[in-house]
Amino acid sequence: MSVKGLVLCFACSEKDSLDLDEELSTHFGLAHTRWATHGEPSAVNSHPHRSDKDNEFVVIHNGIITNYKELKAYLITKGYEFESETDTEVIPKLTKYVYDNRENDITFSTLVERVIKQLEGAFALVFKSRHYPGEAVSTRRGSPLLIGVRSEHELSTENIPIQYNTARVQEKNSHNRPDCASDINSVGDGRAVEYYFASDASAIIEHTNKVLYLEDNDIAAVTGGKLSIHRINRQAGEDPVRAIQTLQMELQQIMKGNFDAFMQKEIFEQPESVVNTMRGRICFDTNTVLLGGLKDHLKEIKRCRRLIVIGCGTSFHAAVATRQILEELTELSVMVELASDFLDRNTPVFRDDVCFFISQSGETADTLMALRYCKSQGALTVGITNTVGSSICRETDCGVHINAGPEIGVASTKAYTSQFVALAMFGLMMSEDRLSLQQRRLEIINSLRDLPELIKKVLAQDKKIKAIAEELYQQKSLLVMGRGFHYATCLEGALKIKEITYMHSEGILAGELKHGPLALIDKDMPVIMIIMRDACYTKCQNALQQVTARSGRPIIICCQDDTDMCKNAYQTIELPHTVDCLQGILSVIPLQLLSFHLAVLRGYDVDFPRNLAKSVTVE
Ligand code: G6P
Repeated sequence: MSVKGLVLCFACSEKDSLDLDEELSTHFGLAHTRWATHGEPSAVNSHPHRSDKDNEFVVIHNGIITNYKELKAYLITKGYEFESETDTEVIPKLTKYVYDNRENDITFSTLVERVIKQLEGAFALVFKSRHYPGEAVSTRRGSPLLIGVRSEHELSTENIPIQYNTARVQEKNSHNRPDCASDINSVGDGRAVEYYFASDASAIIEHTNKVLYLEDNDIAAVTGGKLSIHRINRQAGEDPVRAIQTLQMELQQIMKGNFDAFMQKEIFEQPESVVNTMRGRICFDTNTVLLGGLKDHLKEIKRCRRLIVIGCGTSFHAAVATRQILEELTELSVMVELASDFLDRNTPVFRDDVCFFISQSGETADTLMALRYCKSQGALTVGITNTVGSSICRETDCGVHINAGPEIGVASTKAYTSQFVALAMFGLMMSEDRLSLQQRRLEIINSLRDLPELIKKVLAQDKKIKAIAEELYQQKSLLVMGRGFHYATCLEGALKIKEITYMHSEGILAGELKHGPLALIDKDMPVIMIIMRDACYTKCQNALQQVTARSGRPIIICCQDDTDMCKNAYQTIELPHTVDCLQGILSVIPLQLLSFHLAVLRGYDVDFPRNLAKSVTVE
């Protein structure tokens, strides 16, 4: 299976389940696809990295080591020679240095514990060493890490108790290695068990649906086929076990099926994924919405000073798309923020703010840092994520899973529409007792009920959109223009086009056209305009005239049977009508499809665009 992202994995088995030589009792594989943060993508910069030519210590690393320059300079003074330009390479070299300078025999876990004390930044790591045969050690700080467990027999325990003070416990235990066979803090009783260390469940679901999530500063060791977990110090109030959870994800959910690309499959899944977001949450008979993950905090949310909605990339656009309906339904001030900029500004946050963190992966470092910052300021934190068990899920006070199903394509599609629906549902839940809003709520709830059928109608225009792509694919640039509820669609559409077609694309607020972008318009500049019959219709028509007066040839995404638009457009994509605040769910789909076809026609890998990663776990 091909999974884009940052993946570490290994498997080991006491038995010959991997069909290797009978005499080998433990099998181990180490692989990592890393987003190039230091140095170009090349063989020498690829993982694993090693301490020396004899591979005394090898390491794979997801994250970023911020003090690597200092460590590298120090290690060079000690005679170490570096092969790569990566930050990671300091880790195996530092491990060897600590090992060579130990005073007594130490366990592999203790060694790792000493090494990570010197590291700054974010990391999920797996270590292997010639000095500790049959063992592997893994740890994390700030980067996600989970362990899949596969066993031929029922796992003897569903919870793995944590040991504390690794160094003390283990050094006392034995002269070289702890006797994990008699260690109650382990799973695996001598029969075949396989462990998979990965940064994302989709990387391992093919092998097992039993996983446990490690916390920062957990050190997990597999020794002779047994897993044990240690922490350096017990934190007050922390959970003393790591529970093995059963993932609901199915392998087929992350396979391509009849589609050419995951992204295409995910676009076409949207009639179902939006239903999954709503399932069990909206009662169409009573017009009520209940988001179970928020209900205990609803009173507090209603009393808040303002809502701050934070995300990156597509998730930020979902916040922009729903800002107006949230303002209308909650009657609160709503700020939408790009996580990185929010942090750069040290934005004032107060105890009576409620901060929403929107993230498909739940692991985006910028969003996670913003979450930690808001928590430190005493605000209530709410996660809107697609990945159960992710860092953002675990660290927020409460939240909503959007239940869109695994999203593999780097360019996010179904997660966007599900985030949109989830945020709209939050607005509906907040306004349940507002008499003046009941008519509006009813209109929105009815439109949510009809949404899957309308999405299907938009998807049915795929052929037409492909034909438009055939006309456009050799262009260098593509502008996407609109306003009001569709400004977010412009930003999101332009992002899709940039991400996977590598064309220049800009999402332009039509109200800003006369303040600059109009200079770009001529007969050769492809322009897509979104002009729906809503409160901005007349203003959008003005923008259209400004474009056509300069010989622009706009492709217009408009309402079905809008003859006026059809007259003025070079091409139209007509959409079924829904309530204004949800129309953006329909208007984004033609742009998702268009970007997909453009990328295919230009010969690019749709699911794995150059330079990008699905989950960006570095700031
Ligand atoms: C990366 C992805 C984008 C995504 C953004 C936020 O940049 O390439 O597609 O929108 O991260 O990801 P999140 O998982 O937080 O929604």
